[in-house]
Amino acid sequence: MNKAAVIGSGTMGNGIAQVVATAGYNVTLVDLKKEYLNRGMETIQKNLDRAVKKEKLEDKEKKEILNRINTTTEYENIKEVNIVIEAVPENIEIKKEVFKELDKVLNQDVIIASNTSALSLTELATVTSRPEKVLGIHFFNPVTVMKLVELIKNIITSQDTYDRAKKFVASLNKTAVEVNESPGFVVNRLLIPMINEAIFLVEENVACPDDIDTAMKLGANHPLGPLALADLVGLDVCLAIMETLHKEFGDSKYRASTLLRKKVRAGQLGRKTGEGFYQY
Ligand code: 3HC
Repeated sequence: MNKAAVIGSGTMGNGIAQVVATAGYNVTLVDLKKEYLNRGMETIQKNLDRAVKKEKLEDKEKKEILNRINTTTEYENIKEVNIVIEAVPENIEIKKEVFKELDKVLNQDVIIASNTSALSLTELATVTSRPEKVLGIHFFNPVTVMKLVELIKNIITSQDTYDRAKKFVASLNKTAVEVNESPGFVVNRLLIPMINEAIFLVEENVACPDDIDTAMKLGANHPLGPLALADLVGLDVCLAIMETLHKEFGDSKYRASTLLRKKVRAGQLGRKTGEGFYQY
């Protein structure tokens, strides 16, 4: 197993491609348009340049990693891979379409994993002809830095699929935790409602973003305050996760803050658009 494909070259997709290529796999990064792929590759290049500058990586290794990453807009070009990780936008209909396409071109023994933040793996699995080979491999942002991966079993995932995915994750030098499918899994079920509550505090004028973040950094030893973290994760992603928790559990404790909705509608999505709760 030495060939992988990553679908989607955004924040998570390009980070995953970099991590997988760094571990020695040949990676094909797939996206709809060449310009999206170029943007993803620029981010990877910048990250690797920074590592070389900090003397954490040799220039020769950087070139080898980059050489192991190919890009394509055609699913036909990933026929030979052994594992696929989907990291397209957090929308179940888009993801289902991608899973159907992947199922058509890939050999029957290939694992199709999703990096979804909160959506149902069972719903994705059942659009394929191999639901037992579908599971969640959920990375954290920034992917190159964060050690954790949630390995999420859908209700039909086979033990063999889980074991193969666990070996793959270990080969990436990440630590896996085993999770049975449930909305938001473990980390996002805990983390995103906390971020949403911090946004309620801003909305209710209880404190300003800077003071809320300082409070959680100095009062709870969080490396990043909740609003800075919202900007890192992406406000659109935070909203999508809150919507999933609210819809799936039907519990009003998961309602999204109005301010979060307004900021997403305004296109203030955080670092990726240059403005969220802070300016970049
Ligand atoms: N991309 C790549 N690398 C980055 C980065 C980024 N956006 N931001 C920081 N780094 C790297 C730095 O280059 C540095 O690398 P080095 O150790 O090799 O020198 C390292 O991270 C530490 O960076 P800094 O010293 O500049 O800054 P910090 O000490 O503040 O660390 C951080 C940055 C690791 C991002 C830290 O702030 C942190 O841990 N924040 C919390 C992140 C978190 O909670 N992520 C989970 C989000 S939830 C999620 O992703 C799930 C999804 O489904 C929504």
